[in-house]
Amino acid sequence: MENETDQKHIYRQQSKVMKSDRYHRNRHKGCIIWLTGLSGSGKSSISFEIERLLFERNVSAYVLDGDNLRHGLNRDLGFSADDRRENIRRSAEAAKLFVDAGIITLLSLISPYRVDRDAARALFEAGDFIEVYVKCPLDVCEQRDPKGLYKKARTGEIREFTGISAPYEPPLQPEIVIQTDSQTLIESAEQIMQYLRTYQYLQ
Ligand code: PPS
Repeated sequence: MENETDQKHIYRQQSKVMKSDRYHRNRHKGCIIWLTGLSGSGKSSISFEIERLLFERNVSAYVLDGDNLRHGLNRDLGFSADDRRENIRRSAEAAKLFVDAGIITLLSLISPYRVDRDAARALFEAGDFIEVYVKCPLDVCEQRDPKGLYKKARTGEIREFTGISAPYEPPLQPEIVIQTDSQTLIESAEQIMQYLRTYQYLQ
């Protein structure tokens, strides 16, 4: 493979700043909070609310949002299974850099395929990857339809739309499940904040 030949002469360089150094100075761990769920389930709203809450506590946090990444880093990708896989791979690699830098990184991506999410998880050290299933019935997401996309998916204007004409595979063992049809935004964000406190991501 061409890539293998190229990589033969590429070496990993080691930082002089250790993960534990960053933890002690920042007073929090770097980790990835991976929010997966249907379009309209509330992934972005929850991510940005947690980012705000953490920012207020002087914790370095940043949201990598699927929609936003698709305007830049992933602008060449569509919604076929292969493109979604590449979308998730690139996003996970980008998130890994943020985590290495000690930042609590919220990644909100539909990420509909279990195998792609598992491949993303495998990039991280155990404990650094927190999978959050943002659970909401399809009919509720469709009623919310904040961007009018479900309507377009039903008429066929948008093809391969998750939940309508493309699959969504729910996580089997996520660290956190959030039920956004019965919880408020504040309650959902608090549930994740509580997890971060309980498992000492925050000092
Ligand atoms: S994925 O499946 O993880 O690669 O998708 P993601 O990068 O999170 O992008 C999802 C957003 O793209 C818009 N959109 C679609 N979603 C699903 N299926 C199709 N066909 C599609 N076309 C456009 C939509 O705004 C999604 O954002 P959210 O925030 O999930 O509604």
